[in-house]
Amino acid sequence: MAAALVLAFALGAHWGARGVPPPVAVTDARGDTFAAAIATVQRYHEASSSSRSGVLRRAPAVDWGAQRPPFKSYPASPHIALPRAVPDDAGSRSLGAMLRGPAAPHPGRALDLAAVGQLLHLTAGVTARRGGLALRAAPSSGALFPAELYLVARRVNGLQPGLYHFDPDQHRLAWLGGLPSGLLAVEADLLMVVSAVFQRTGYKYRDRAYRYVAADLGHLVENARLAGHYVGVHAVLLEQFDETALASLFGLDGVQEGVIAMAAFSRPAAAAPGRPVAQLLPPGSADSAPGASLGVTGEIHAATSAANGGTSARALRADGLVALPPGDAAPMDLARTILQRRSQRRFSEQPVQLQQLASILADMAQAPLLSGALHADLVVNRVAGLRPGVYRYLPTRHALQPVQLGDFAAQARNAALDQDVIGNAAVVLILSADSARALENGARGYRMAFLEAGLMSERWLLGAVARGLGACPVGAFYDDEAAALVKAEKGRWVLHFAALGQAAD
Ligand SMILES: Cc1cc2nc3c(=O)[nH]c(=O)nc-3n(C[C@H](O)[C@H](O)[C@H](O)COP(=O)(O)O)c2cc1C
Repeated sequence: MAAALVLAFALGAHWGARGVPPPVAVTDARGDTFAAAIATVQRYHEASSSSRSGVLRRAPAVDWGAQRPPFKSYPASPHIALPRAVPDDAGSRSLGAMLRGPAAPHPGRALDLAAVGQLLHLTAGVTARRGGLALRAAPSSGALFPAELYLVARRVNGLQPGLYHFDPDQHRLAWLGGLPSGLLAVEADLLMVVSAVFQRTGYKYRDRAYRYVAADLGHLVENARLAGHYVGVHAVLLEQFDETALASLFGLDGVQEGVIAMAAFSRPAAAAPGRPVAQLLPPGSADSAPGASLGVTGEIHAATSAANGGTSARALRADGLVALPPGDAAPMDLARTILQRRSQRRFSEQPVQLQQLASILADMAQAPLLSGALHADLVVNRVAGLRPGVYRYLPTRHALQPVQLGDFAAQARNAALDQDVIGNAAVVLILSADSARALENGARGYRMAFLEAGLMSERWLLGAVARGLGACPVGAFYDDEAAALVKAEKGRWVLHFAALGQAAD
């Protein structure tokens, strides 16, 4: 305990803030590393919070350098061209069905190269090119796209077992090498390892970058899960894996580019994946040179990694609640929905129907996959049949609980750095996490909470598209004003906003 406090204090001193309060004493029987990692999370969250009066706590400056290239390439590797996803409107693979589980596989068809091409296209593929930007299947803060995707292919027809990197620009795989023996303790036909090149986001968003990266990649891995269902395989998002071992396997330095998330795909007959990756592996051939430390971004990634974090958790009625009508399953083909999704920032004055909102909320409110600490609040501005105000969504009752009634559109716009996308939305979703619950099993829960926010937001966005509405994720907000808007009790962190409305254009 004494050592934990010394380390926690050392971290505080290292972050060198003006007027830093004494470090939070974290007592835990699970040891000093565990406690110090949680202290790092608490300090990081404060250091990356913004408010009109500036950041609450300053971390040492990091030289983020210039903008990084948006794509990573392996020019010396052999490449394999991939097919793209083609919407299948006659089929039964609607968004609604894919939210429930895998599509029935085509008779006799194993996971093959065509399925992998579709899976990658719908996860992180280029879906539009505009103004020199390659926009992707999943949204990304500032269109900076920090994610890189790597595959461990074990049983894919047409693909030699081995390690691959996905190049979204050319929609192809680069061969990185064969499967080392005794490799990974996860039994799956295909593993997807998702890393982030922190500098891509950090050069613009600085110390807030890790939040954006984790939320971005949450959107992306929800696409991966649904796209896995679309190609007829079980898809599992893994909570436990060894970032260091995986970085080493793919030759990443783990600092400039760190492993953030992981998904496993298996044909329905194969054993369910999900056991942790255990073994450490010898370093692979890195093409990203080790670089300078990224300050608090490096510290928060290390603190939320397996070595430090342990495991992660998982019209008013008499009772004051607004009962919502049951949701309608979204009938639009999943591939069409993902391929059509774009961030919508201009909304008409038309209200959203209560049935539409109830359906989108029902899509969003699946059982937690990576963190059970999240809450969803809504700022309702224009929903037919619902009084404007701030409401808490209660997923188990599929009902809304009023937090404060009235017109909060301007307050929401102010909290979101005066962005019109929030001020003019018919409804604003605000996701927050109970910090004690998020961290109850370790610091890793911090990253998992942002990933979970991304999963939920992606379901909100796709649910909107599938019902002809527009939506936009928003990560830029003043933490204190956002918390006041939803009347967050002490210890609740606001993680993410998302707008919804009838598109104006
Ligand atoms: C975590 C996250 C935070 C975002 N924050 C904002 C924001 O504050 N304001 C905004 O207008 N768009 C925001 N976006 C939307 C991105 O700008 C958008 O995804 C990107 O430009 C790519 O365009 P697309 O979504 O149409 O593919 C955010 C997206 C994500 C995933």
